[in-house]
Amino acid sequence: MDLFEYQARDLFEAYGVPVLRGIVARTPAEAGAAAEELGTAVVVVKAQVKVGGRGKAGGVKLARSREEAEQHAAAILGMDINGHTVEAVMVAEGAAIAEEYYCSMLLDRANRCYLAMASVEGGVDIERLAEERPDALARLLLDPRTGLDADAASAVVDAAGFADDVAGEVARVLTLIGTVYRESDATLVEVNPLVRTEDGRIVALDGKVSLDDNAAFRHPEWADLRDESRDDPLEVRAREKGLNYVKLDGQVGVIGNGAGLVMSTLDVVAYAGKNLPGMPKPANFLDIGGGASAQVMADGLDIILSDPQVSVVFVNVFGGITACSEVAKGIREALIQLGHRATRPIVVRLDGNAVDVGRAMLEEYGHPLVEVVGTMDDAAARAAELASAALGGN
Ligand SMILES: Nc1ncnc2c1ncn2[C@@H]1O[C@H](COP(=O)(O)OP(=O)(O)OP(=O)(O)O)[C@@H](O)[C@H]1O
Ligand SMILES: [Mg+2]
Repeated sequence: MDLFEYQARDLFEAYGVPVLRGIVARTPAEAGAAAEELGTAVVVVKAQVKVGGRGKAGGVKLARSREEAEQHAAAILGMDINGHTVEAVMVAEGAAIAEEYYCSMLLDRANRCYLAMASVEGGVDIERLAEERPDALARLLLDPRTGLDADAASAVVDAAGFADDVAGEVARVLTLIGTVYRESDATLVEVNPLVRTEDGRIVALDGKVSLDDNAAFRHPEWADLRDESRDDPLEVRAREKGLNYVKLDGQVGVIGNGAGLVMSTLDVVAYAGKNLPGMPKPANFLDIGGGASAQVMADGLDIILSDPQVSVVFVNVFGGITACSEVAKGIREALIQLGHRATRPIVVRLDGNAVDVGRAMLEEYGHPLVEVVGTMDDAAARAAELASAALGGN
């Protein structure tokens, strides 16, 4: 999960990383009031979107009065920045900037460790700097057991060539950023720019933080950080039910057990649909995992059938620890629970543990919408064919 700048600012503040005061505003009037409350001669009105290049897009503006802050907020709110609509701004104290630096810490998957980067030439265009003058950007691989501790921070500051009068303070701030990274289970903490103000303070003026969703179980406080305004409503509902669901843009709903099997199911469905009229495609990814209980199956079918674009569901289960008889029972109970909401055909392919019992159970149940097909390829072809027909092909 990526954080908004104002959320990163709050997180930094909680760990003692020096930041400036900032207030979130969702209307021009709120922005004006925020400017007044901050009371500094200059404030900055900053678009809050989870995408880079805000400054260049006109989403960061200085204001010298309450009225000016209101005007900038009116222009920035609702603006589209690289496909993201601005729904909030942060009004922050204006800094008198003497120098702009860059620093970040991130997970380096390729090298299986952490990477710290810093430059005395920070500001807006760090990507270009990294490309055109890579020497100006110090890069240090960090031992994951110690992370960005005081020693590592000094080494980064040395490598980047910070001047003596700021090196000590920059290293202290870097160590705090290392603490934020570790304690927050982050995969990225980036500060661009980190500035030296004219009165000699080192301050983080912008923050980008990505949190590792795999650690969500030990951070109940993250629930408040989640921004669901951009999420697909079906994905939000699926998440509430604990389902691993991703909405796609096709007509064949897919349910399978195990991420690998579901991924290949998407491929065979797309392949089967490629040469059919209307070119039906998979409508979603849904992995019901090992358990595949009736409840999970019912929740999964319910979500998939709530997608009006879905015309057929393909249930592709390979019985392992969970026997196919359990899966068949799950499908039957799910259909009973769904009742009249089960309106579209369901093509089922079962294989593996207790497959004969499972198939026999579905046969005996004899639900008019359920069609059992022997192999994965044939089942995908059948599902694609039904979806193609629903699209007006034949
Ligand atoms: N509080 C502030 N006071 C004075 N100037 C600021 C302040 N915040 C930002 N700026 C100036 O605006 C520039 C851009 O701000 P910021 O880094 O927050 O946005 P950005 O880099 O354009 O956005 P992104 O990092 O998302 O690409 C900074 O490099 C700095 O010069
Ligand atoms: Mg920036």
